[in-house]
Amino acid sequence: MINFEVFGKKSREFLNTPISKDARINILEGSVRSSKTVTMLAKWLDYIGNAPPGLLLMTGVSKETLYDNVLFDLFDTVGASHYKYNHNSGELIIFGRRIKIIGAKDEGSEKYLRGKTIAGCYSDEISLMPKNFFMQLLNRLSVEGAKLYATTNPDSPYHYLYSEYINDPEKLKSGMVKVYHFILEDNPSLSHEYVEFIKKAYSGLWYKRNILGLWVMAEGIIFDQFNDDTMKVNDAMLPEFVRYWVGVDYGTSNATTFMLCAMGADRKFYVLNEYYHSGRDSLQKSPAQYSKELIKFVASQKNVHLLPIKPERIYIDPSAESFIVQLYEDGLKGVTQADNAVKNGIELLTNLMGANNFRVHERCTHLLTELSSYIWDSKAQKLGEDKPIKENDHTIDAIRYVGYSTRSIWARYI
Ligand SMILES: Nc1ncnc2c1ncn2[C@@H]1O[C@H](COP(=O)(O)OP(=O)(O)OP(=O)(O)O)[C@@H](O)[C@H]1O
Ligand SMILES: [Mg+2]
Repeated sequence: MINFEVFGKKSREFLNTPISKDARINILEGSVRSSKTVTMLAKWLDYIGNAPPGLLLMTGVSKETLYDNVLFDLFDTVGASHYKYNHNSGELIIFGRRIKIIGAKDEGSEKYLRGKTIAGCYSDEISLMPKNFFMQLLNRLSVEGAKLYATTNPDSPYHYLYSEYINDPEKLKSGMVKVYHFILEDNPSLSHEYVEFIKKAYSGLWYKRNILGLWVMAEGIIFDQFNDDTMKVNDAMLPEFVRYWVGVDYGTSNATTFMLCAMGADRKFYVLNEYYHSGRDSLQKSPAQYSKELIKFVASQKNVHLLPIKPERIYIDPSAESFIVQLYEDGLKGVTQADNAVKNGIELLTNLMGANNFRVHERCTHLLTELSSYIWDSKAQKLGEDKPIKENDHTIDAIRYVGYSTRSIWARYI
């Protein structure tokens, strides 16, 4: 249960502003855990009681994430007798007021907005919403006095939300947009220990955005947290290993890679061995040939006592459908389609490096080269998108598949 009494100064400044003095677009942005959501919830409850008549909306990336991030706390705060929620239809009645819950990335949600007149909206993680959804939303907030209340963590400074709203001097000056910038210190409910803990959980780009709360570019080398001197290991430096997995990136003209990954007894993420074959530099191989090579690769891996090992799973590029079928037919056990969330996977690897929990065996020469040359795409960045350049990423993709697909294991070590 949220104790609304211990708000920080910034939250109070926002909450003490009467609804009538709020802007048309009100954005709380900044660091993670800085109390943006809790503050916005208090404002939203006020708004529900004072909004102009008409339909209210609450939006998140999906209904599920909105439930986890916001509705759970909202329901807990108002108590069971004051709301009724139908998750399937997204219909919420709270204090007798009708609110429609929609996910911006759910099928048909942008269409849902068309033609509607909306009297107010709460948007969680608004930077993750497509621009067309956001524009449609603004168009629909057409009732006199209708307002948008949104929260977000920082993203690229070229992101439309930043360049066209949060940082647009005209819109700020005219009072159309009001922005409240939150940092960890704005949440008085966090203990000093927790603040120290959360600061350690992020590295590089994610530290700047999620901890410092800055809208900074994803530019240059992606894995600038990787330190060749301390993270490259040889046989003599290996601990015992407790779990093994293999990551596979499949390409016909591009390289195909198999990467043996492991969790050490020291609870670090190790990349122990690599297979790399590029159909561009040498002969192309068929799925059947690659399948044989993968089976051979898996069967030939040894632990530090030179005894055979058995990887728990083999995480494969989910788009390599024909190759996956081939592997099933050839009877390889443990084949699993990897979770291919590129940016989240990169974040996980970066955070492992930042926490000094990432190691690469010196024999993985392609990976070592790729780690130092994998860069953000500056053209995509100018469009507000964080995307790596899709070159020299084959070993990285394979270890990302393992790392991100096993992320629940690593959550404690980043
Ligand atoms: N006034 C308060 N009273 C009690 N708990 C609070 C208060 N403000 C914040 N908290 C707690 O601090 C934590 C972080 O707050 P909140 O979820 O609002 O942060 P956030 O800025 O939305 O973070 P994120 O960017 O991660 O979504 C939550 O566990 C929340 O319950
Ligand atoms: Mg939040």
